Amino acid sequence: MEYYNKIAKSYNELHKEEQSKKVNIILKYIRPRGLLLDIGAGTGISTKPFEKYCMCIALDPSKELLKRYRGNKILAKAEKLPFKDKTFDVIISVTALHHTNIKKALKEIFRVAKPSSQIALTVLKKSKLAKILEKEGLLENFKKIDSEKDWIFIRR
Ligand SMILES: C[S@@+](CC[C@H](N)C(=O)[O-])C[C@H]1O[C@@H](n2cnc3c(N)ncnc32)[C@H](O)[C@@H]1O
Repeated sequence: MEYYNKIAKSYNELHKEEQSKKVNIILKYIRPRGLLLDIGAGTGISTKPFEKYCMCIALDPSKELLKRYRGNKILAKAEKLPFKDKTFDVIISVTALHHTNIKKALKEIFRVAKPSSQIALTVLKKSKLAKILEKEGLLENFKKIDSEKDWIFIRR
């Protein structure tokens, strides 16, 4: 977490363009509505574009990143989501899951998702996580979309 707290000030400048491309792809595949959770939202640059469609909650363990997001937010980790079962209509996570214990995080994501919820998870192609997902078939029911540095997994 220290790394993200340190770079918090320059995070948007460094990553906005790249993250926006991923969000634009997600928006081609899902129709966001209702209550949205963004897991590992950081400064909320990937949360913001969804605000016009959804009531959004940005979740992140980095206080310094999260304080830069003006909307609804909660300091927490993907592995322990502080929400009731079947709460969210949309769940997104943009380039954050490589920091998590993926099995715990996915268990939590599926717990707090409504059965009908739309889910979009982006994963760095070069990460160990990408290999684990492939090897263990953890998101095999998701549509997998190629987006430069990331795979984008969509359930709609
Ligand atoms: C590359 S940044 C992506 C931030 C944001 N999603 C975006 O599109 O700009 C990775 C984020 O994952 C967060 N993170 C680290 N460990 C996490 C965990 N266990 N659960 C949820 N998020 C975590 C970091 O604090 C950071 O904000």
